[in-house]
This record gives sequence, C-alpha cells and structure tokens, in this order.
Amino acid sequence: MKLEHHKQSVSSEKTAETYYDSAEADNFYFNIWGGEDIHIGLYEETKDIFKASRATVAHMANAIPGLNIDTQIIDFGSGYGGAARYLAKEYKCNVTCLNLSDVQNKTNRRLNIEQNLDNLISVVHGSFERLPGPAAKFDVVWSQDAILHSSNRERVIAQAWRALKPGGMMIYTDPMQADGCPPGVLQPVYDRIHLESLGSISFYKEVAEKCGFTNFCKEDMTHNLLTHYSRVLEELEKNYGPMCKTSSKNYIDRMLVGLRSWIDAANAGYLAWGIIKLTKPI
Ligand SMILES: C[S@@+](CC[C@H](N)C(=O)[O-])C[C@H]1O[C@@H](n2cnc3c(N)ncnc32)[C@H](O)[C@@H]1O
Repeated sequence: MKLEHHKQSVSSEKTAETYYDSAEADNFYFNIWGGEDIHIGLYEETKDIFKASRATVAHMANAIPGLNIDTQIIDFGSGYGGAARYLAKEYKCNVTCLNLSDVQNKTNRRLNIEQNLDNLISVVHGSFERLPGPAAKFDVVWSQDAILHSSNRERVIAQAWRALKPGGMMIYTDPMQADGCPPGVLQPVYDRIHLESLGSISFYKEVAEKCGFTNFCKEDMTHNLLTHYSRVLEELEKNYGPMCKTSSKNYIDRMLVGLRSWIDAANAGYLAWGIIKLTKPI
C-alpha cells in the first residue's frame, strides 16, 4: 500500500474504532438501532426495527446457495455478531467475526457463549483492510453496512478476494451515494459518522471487476434506507429523555441532527442501499 493510502486507512480505522468503542455509541446502537443487528432493515412486513434488521440477515442468507455445516464464512465488520449467530443457528455454518470494536466484540463473545454458539463462531479483533491469516480460506465473505467506514474500499474488496476460495462468494450491503449524486451535497451525511466519502453501485462494480470478481449482481433496496433512518429517528425521539441519561444529551442531539441529514439526503435521491453479490471464479 502506498504511504499516503496507508496513513488514510489507519486514520479511518482509528476513527471507526473510537466511534464504536464509545459507551455512548454502544448504548445508542444496542438499544435503538437494532439490538444485535446494527444495519438497515427490510420493512416490507414490519415496522419494528429489530425484526426488520433480522429480515435483512435472513434475506441475505437465503441468497447464498448451499449454506451448511461445511461453510466457512467471514463477516467483515461484524458488530455485535447478530448475523453470525443467525448463520450458526440456522445453517450450522462456521463464522469468523472480524471487527474493530473491542466493546462490541466483548458483547458478541458473551452472547455466543450464552447461546452455546461459541464452538461455531470465533471473534477476532482486526481490520478488514488488513486481513489476518492465510488466503483462500473462506467460502463466503459477508458484510453489512460496515465498508462505508473505510477510506480505501478498493482495498477492502481486494481483501475479500484474497480471503475467498475459488468459487466463493462475497455478499454485502453498504449505504452508498446514488450514482449521479451531485458533488458537495453529502457533507452533513458524512459528518454523522465521520466519513470522507461513500461508495456507489458503479464504484463497487468497477472495483470488483478490476479484482477479477464475476457475476456482479445488485438488489437495489434503497427505499428501506429512508424507512430505517426514519424509524430510528422516531424511536430516538420517543426515548429522548432516558437516552440522554444513558448516552449524553450532546451525543443524542448530534445523532438527531445526523439522522435528519440522512433522511433529507435519502428524500432528495442522493443515497443508495442494497445487496451486492460477487463471485470469485474457479
Ligand atoms: C453499522 S456497524 C454494522 C455492524 C454489523 N455488520 C451489523 O450489521 O450488525 C459497522 C461496523 O463496522 C465495523 N468496522 C468499521 N471499520 C472496520 C474495519 N476497518 N475493520 C473491521 N470492522 C470495521 C465497526 O466496528 C462496526 O461494528
């Protein structure tokens, strides 16, 4: 990696780690965003954030053929490990949770032990920009709403390529900017979680094909982004008093501003979200 890129990567990793390790973020995400699942939900059948978030996991798992006891999965940016427990419980898959936040990793390990799943799930502290361990070890690279935090997304896709066995699949979701989004309009969106940019469908397609991935497949589900942020805003407003006590008033007030910025940008058609699938050819 070039020195300048290396410095940017280390600083975006540090920013994400500090952000998710804070007690305020831990409290907000675990209690309001979706519990053990902290990604955008699918709201076709429910308005409940926790159920909708779980529906995204189930929908993604359904999109992977032949998941079973022999399937080795790595989850890039695994948060509290909700997806890993679902995959281990429903399909008996082996899952490696790779995540930067030690605070989340601690909760993840505890929940795995409580649910007798620690034999199928290992939790590793680390970055998806510099993967530990040997190449070509996994059948599936899974990631939900985590790659947006990277300042070098091209490298993350290259790391997925390295991690996968030939014939393996990467499946991920990521909040993105819409193709054709005018320049300069997303700063309030970046500010909520200290980003410098967002990926886009066309960016990911180009980068994936450059790596050698085939069968680029996208399921555009952008409308769920707007619903999800609106529901999180509603819940946060409803629980404003207690949340100001457990996180701080300053954190919650900034979060309200940030959520409204994402809703405005989504309403203006500047954002995109969906499921992307890539195949590493044999
Ligand atoms: C919005 S959360 C999503 C968590 C989880 N995927 C889920 O859907 O519940 C984003 C996650 O990305 C993780 N993350 C951000 N940058 C990372 C990096 N460079 N390497 C590993 N994890 C990272 C954070 O620790 C956080 O858990």
